[in-house]
Amino acid sequence: MALQAASLVSSTFVVPEEGKSSASLKESSLLGVSLSDHVKADFSSSTLKWKKREFNQRVGTVRAQTMATATPAVNRASSDGKKTLRQGCCIVTGASSGLGLAAAKALAETGKWHVIMACRDFLKAERAAKSAGIAKENCTIMHLDLASLDSVRQFVDTFRRSGRALDVLVCNAAVYLPTAKEPTFTAEGFELSVGTNHLGHFLLSRLLLEDMKKSDYPSKRLIIVGSITGNTNTLAGNVPPKANLGDLRGLAGGLNGLNSSAMIDGGEFDGAKAYKDSKVCNMLTMQEFHRRFHEETGITFASLYPGCIATTGLFREHIPLFRLLFPPFQKYITKGFVSEEDAGKRLAQVVSDPSLTKSGVYWSWNKDSASFENQLSQEASDAEKARKVWEVSEKLVGLA
Ligand SMILES: NC(=O)c1ccc[n+]([C@@H]2O[C@H](COP(=O)([O-])OP(=O)(O)OC[C@H]3O[C@@H](n4cnc5c(N)ncnc54)[C@H](OP(=O)(O)O)[C@@H]3O)[C@@H](O)[C@H]2O)c1
Repeated sequence: MALQAASLVSSTFVVPEEGKSSASLKESSLLGVSLSDHVKADFSSSTLKWKKREFNQRVGTVRAQTMATATPAVNRASSDGKKTLRQGCCIVTGASSGLGLAAAKALAETGKWHVIMACRDFLKAERAAKSAGIAKENCTIMHLDLASLDSVRQFVDTFRRSGRALDVLVCNAAVYLPTAKEPTFTAEGFELSVGTNHLGHFLLSRLLLEDMKKSDYPSKRLIIVGSITGNTNTLAGNVPPKANLGDLRGLAGGLNGLNSSAMIDGGEFDGAKAYKDSKVCNMLTMQEFHRRFHEETGITFASLYPGCIATTGLFREHIPLFRLLFPPFQKYITKGFVSEEDAGKRLAQVVSDPSLTKSGVYWSWNKDSASFENQLSQEASDAEKARKVWEVSEKLVGLA
């Protein structure tokens, strides 16, 4: 209960961490753009999670700092009559490391954004925010475990009780398990990569869309981080195993590995492919959001490939030799390397740059670090498949 105690005395940070353990490290395949992963969470301890959740509900997990809902997005300064924009509120999932942390830092240090760091490991996130120098008044840590739909719903509830308006949501968190020989599962029994990266974010973004609709912020955005590895129109996307959702028979069966395959296409389990498939789902979901809601809400829906951030936690569980060689390989051979700091700035750009308001776009950056609208692969831009993924996913997460 030490973690809960920590959350109780904090006026800024919310909710404790879940129990976690590192899974074993296994061999990966080729030196493509992303060949290794972090294999971290042990989500089998659902009892522990329930106990913690019940505890949180009893004590009340919200330690809200400010109540911003009533504040209009544009305030009129009394002295010279100039209009000023209030601080925006941006939720970033998986902001405890890598891209999410760097983006949170880039946004928070402008002073224009209050970042909700939505993380599964409270203390890690707290330490990360501190060491990144993110000012406490510009961020709030809230617990979110995307591998549990209950946790997603509880996060939404906690966020709502904070009283803040929601202006931007960034779905960034991910797990990548390319060396796993057997599937592992979320609390609801979905294969972990697709369950976390796609289904957890799907429920989160569907629920929070309602909050974003209510915000009066002038440029509201919902961003889902994509990846080159899910796009088979690229070299990296052609490193086997390639992404392929097939006819979605595994997804329709619930990805439980029992009476259905743990893979979306119904095939044999492959951890690297499951990650790539989940990224295709992320990119399809962004476009389906755009088709369904952009005109009605004015919200900008976007995805991005920030570049190969070869130093992030995504590779933390790989063998030391790989971790040693992968960054220079990406820097000097493929030249696809981008630092965490620069990648964070790219994501922050998609959050707030006034020139990146176009909806339905998958952003990438060229060698001069200029953003451009990239082409998605045939499958990752298949509107019919996007509709089907949407419909099956809403059944799986209990929205239909
Ligand atoms: N690295 C690259 O080269 C690269 C390239 C293209 C796209 N991307 C994308 O960039 C995004 C960020 O990845 P990264 O490279 O920054 O990796 P990372 O450092 O490992 O960050 C992943 C984040 O997701 C969090 N996370 C994992 N499982 C979670 C769960 N169940 N609930 C809540 N949060 C969870 C992690 O939390 P913990 O800190 O607790 O583990 C971590 O904060 C991902 O969407 C990835 O697909 C990365």
